[in-house]
Amino acid sequence: MSLLICLDHSKDSEALALSQRFSLSLADESLLAEPGFHLCLDEQGLSLQQGNVKPGKKRTQVQVDFSQGAVAHRRKFGGGQGQDIAKAIGVSAYKPTVIDATAGLGRDSFVLATLGCQVTAYERQPVVAALLQDGLNRGALDPEISDIIHRIHLEFGSSHELLVPPSDSALLKDVVYLDPMFEHDEKAKAQVKKDMQAFRQVVGQDADADDLLSRALACARCRVVVKRARKARPLADREPTYSLTGKANRFDIYVKAKVAPPPL
Ligand SMILES: C[S@@+](CC[C@H](N)C(=O)[O-])C[C@H]1O[C@@H](n2cnc3c(N)ncnc32)[C@H](O)[C@@H]1O
Repeated sequence: MSLLICLDHSKDSEALALSQRFSLSLADESLLAEPGFHLCLDEQGLSLQQGNVKPGKKRTQVQVDFSQGAVAHRRKFGGGQGQDIAKAIGVSAYKPTVIDATAGLGRDSFVLATLGCQVTAYERQPVVAALLQDGLNRGALDPEISDIIHRIHLEFGSSHELLVPPSDSALLKDVVYLDPMFEHDEKAKAQVKKDMQAFRQVVGQDADADDLLSRALACARCRVVVKRARKARPLADREPTYSLTGKANRFDIYVKAKVAPPPL
């Protein structure tokens, strides 16, 4: 069960609406005394806040913020169409439409929208989906990125159900992108930043990810792209058409057709 704590009672009705949209149960503030990360609504919006923090210690908070930090830096200096993800998706003068079927906190969706793609983002984890929607809402108010944010549309739900081919094939999206959580060893766990630790605590592992590949292939007009750890086995043990391997990740590309505008 996913919980939401409202720390600003002028926002009680917003908390109720969020709990209804994202299937969250409202919890009392006293839950913050418990260890782990808790979803909280306060004057800054939604964030994951660390519980059971000793007096005088800083509470770690994780919020989706497309205007600042690493995401903003990558937007300004990230290399545009030269990035591996852009090559993997097939971005060129033609900007493919993309389903990001494992949206998480939306970083890859935002990169793709920055490159001009229209992105439909699916996320099934209630806390993650609520954080992402909150980040999109705040981003839409920032004139520097609002046009990018408007290219992203979040749907809360599981891609196991949402990835259904449309009855009219003219409505197929060009690319389906998958980036499920992969196994992380203890050493890697110790090295990840606090925000990633919080994210992993909430999401756990996507043990059912293999099932997504065939669904994705049925829903993509041009290709499916799967992000994997550099040395991980391919999803569903199915060899891709080709891979792009970077320093930390690998993109496995399953080609169906050239990424180009649909025939008229
Ligand atoms: C590794 S994270 C994705 C990170 C994301 N690419 C980013 O750039 O922020 C994987 C996410 O996919 C979600 N997910 C896994 N399987 C899913 C499914 N079947 N439907 C929807 N979301 C799913 C998980 O809840 C998790 O938030």
